[in-house]
Amino acid sequence: MTSARAFAKLTLSLRVLGPRDDGYHELEALTVSIGQPHDTLDVIPQPDPGVSLAVETDDPDVPTDGENLAYRAAAALLESAAAEAGIALSLTKRIPAGAGLGGASADAAATLIAARAALALEVDDARLDELAAELGSDVPFCLRGGAAWMRGRGELLEAVELPLGVPMLLAVPPFRCATPAVYRAWDDLGGPRSQRRVPAPAAVASLLPELVNDLEPAAEVVDPRLTEFRERLEAVAGRPAVLAGSGSAYVVPVDDARSLPDVAIEVSERFGAAVVPTATVSRGVRLS
Ligand code: C5P
Repeated sequence: MTSARAFAKLTLSLRVLGPRDDGYHELEALTVSIGQPHDTLDVIPQPDPGVSLAVETDDPDVPTDGENLAYRAAAALLESAAAEAGIALSLTKRIPAGAGLGGASADAAATLIAARAALALEVDDARLDELAAELGSDVPFCLRGGAAWMRGRGELLEAVELPLGVPMLLAVPPFRCATPAVYRAWDDLGGPRSQRRVPAPAAVASLLPELVNDLEPAAEVVDPRLTEFRERLEAVAGRPAVLAGSGSAYVVPVDDARSLPDVAIEVSERFGAAVVPTATVSRGVRLS
């Protein structure tokens, strides 16, 4: 059996440069992998071809069939490698769906890496990158992880140096955002540039002095509960927050990791929301 941890991805800053002819949007995003939350994946080789998937989740909306991106990643990889064997996937979900944290993309990336290792498939990294880009805009980043500028649709990656363990607080409201709806709202609003700028943590300031997310005004129009959630979160944490990707999670940069658990408990009690102390990690997938 091969096991992997699939780490959530977090856009520290997200500029949407404009719509593209293919229906996607041109992006420039500083994106990092974070240690919490993460999903776990076990891959067991099978003598017969094909993919099976078991999902442990408390979210009834997470697909457990061939629609699941981990399943689709496994099927695409086996087909690409013309594999004669099959695999059984067992996925434990902890990254909330619809939070803008790339959970499905992280699972797909972990599947590509763990299944290649489990079956010793002769698929090189370049082919894995291609498969990742076909599966979704965030999968190429999750495959590598760490810290990178994401450009294009998300598949053009420029790795950047960032210290590990940059502390943050992640707050996930008890409602979710649909990514396509948020991008559509961004179009309908005429392509807003967010004017809300959040001072970057000291470790990030040399790359980017302020964090900003152009999808935030769009997401807060799609679901006005987000604005209230953010304002109350900021009041309790005593610091500004910025939306993660297309939402619904917000990130609060903090300078001192030691203060995190206390703030997390206070904020989660006030909101009934999941509040997770987290920090940057060096990759998107870790085999164990
Ligand atoms: O690529 P992925 O399937 O993850 O994208 C989900 C949706 O997010 C797309 O259907 C599109 O509406 C939106 N999207 C976008 N531009 C991007 C990435 C995603 O418009 N660069």
